[in-house]
Amino acid sequence: MAERLLINPLAGPLEPAPSPSGPVAFHRSLPGYAVTPLVDAPAAAAALGVRRVLVKDESSRLGLPSFKVLGASWATYRALCERFGIDPEPVVPIDTLRERLLDGPALGLVCATDGNHGRAVARMARTLGLEATVLVPATMVEARRAAIAGEGARVEVVGGTYDDAVERAAALAGGDRLVIQDTAWPGYETVPAWVIEGYATIGAEIEVRPDVVAVQIGVGSFAAAMVRRFAGVRIVGVEPVSAACALASAEAGELADVPGPHDSAMAGLNCGRPSPVAWPLLSRGIEAFAAVSDQRADEAVAMLASDGITAGESGAAGLAGLLAFRADLALPADATVLVVNTEGDTAALRP
Ligand SMILES: Cc1ncc(COP(=O)(O)O)c(C=O)c1O
Repeated sequence: MAERLLINPLAGPLEPAPSPSGPVAFHRSLPGYAVTPLVDAPAAAAALGVRRVLVKDESSRLGLPSFKVLGASWATYRALCERFGIDPEPVVPIDTLRERLLDGPALGLVCATDGNHGRAVARMARTLGLEATVLVPATMVEARRAAIAGEGARVEVVGGTYDDAVERAAALAGGDRLVIQDTAWPGYETVPAWVIEGYATIGAEIEVRPDVVAVQIGVGSFAAAMVRRFAGVRIVGVEPVSAACALASAEAGELADVPGPHDSAMAGLNCGRPSPVAWPLLSRGIEAFAAVSDQRADEAVAMLASDGITAGESGAAGLAGLLAFRADLALPADATVLVVNTEGDTAALRP
């Protein structure tokens, strides 16, 4: 499949939303919280022909190698507060919540994942003394499964794609099982909306106003949070050519499925359908959707490495999209470009 750029026919004006105070205060209250670095990437800036590339480096966040714990932790916290009738704000310390859980019936967290979300949910479950069941597609490499199991979760392999694993997770909801999913389906919108809110902490930590932002898209929850924060700025969405479901949806004018197999090395982006909760923000707030090859992602990984930043393939995907289409996007020479390194080193996570 060839690389492509689609100027989004659905784009329209959007106002940026103020960062919600809850997730930021909650994340600050967690042990190990630190603002992640925003670093200059001069080699990337030279390659793109722009004044400056800034990389928000999420390769280490709350002790995990990806930003995803921001959404998983806030959504878990909110779901537990709702379940126990606790006011989520002001923030209840995580230790207090764990003690509170000891008094109630045993609860388990359930989710599907293509890697990082499941590991983050498993970490939250362990922190709170809960069980976790994480459903993974059969294509997931063993090392990623092991990383999730290493957090104490029960890992169940589901035949088919990530989207099949999501369907299976949805079927497990109810009773003593709380589904913490980062994508939505009809009737299940509240938790994925909390996941998007949780990702707002990334934008809230960035004080610079860039001219162009590149966001990698799996189900689009991360991109939705960035659109909220940076609406009005040029935003480019980036996906693997084999799982370009946001591009396909923009082209179709409605949510569209891209059939599997989704086997990109950009493992976190191997999703066949955008989240319906994220889509209204993506469809309006993203200027163009770029579908890029794994080779392009590798080039971006190498370029970030030359700038001293350790990125995995999904982490470097935003930059890959700009590298692939810098001419079509006509990036101005005086532009400040923002990309987010959403995942650190994946050397140990390859097949
Ligand atoms: C490393 C990484 N980057 C980006 C994404 C994309 O996030 P979303 O699925 O919210 O679009 C993911 C999702 O799993 C991921 O793991």
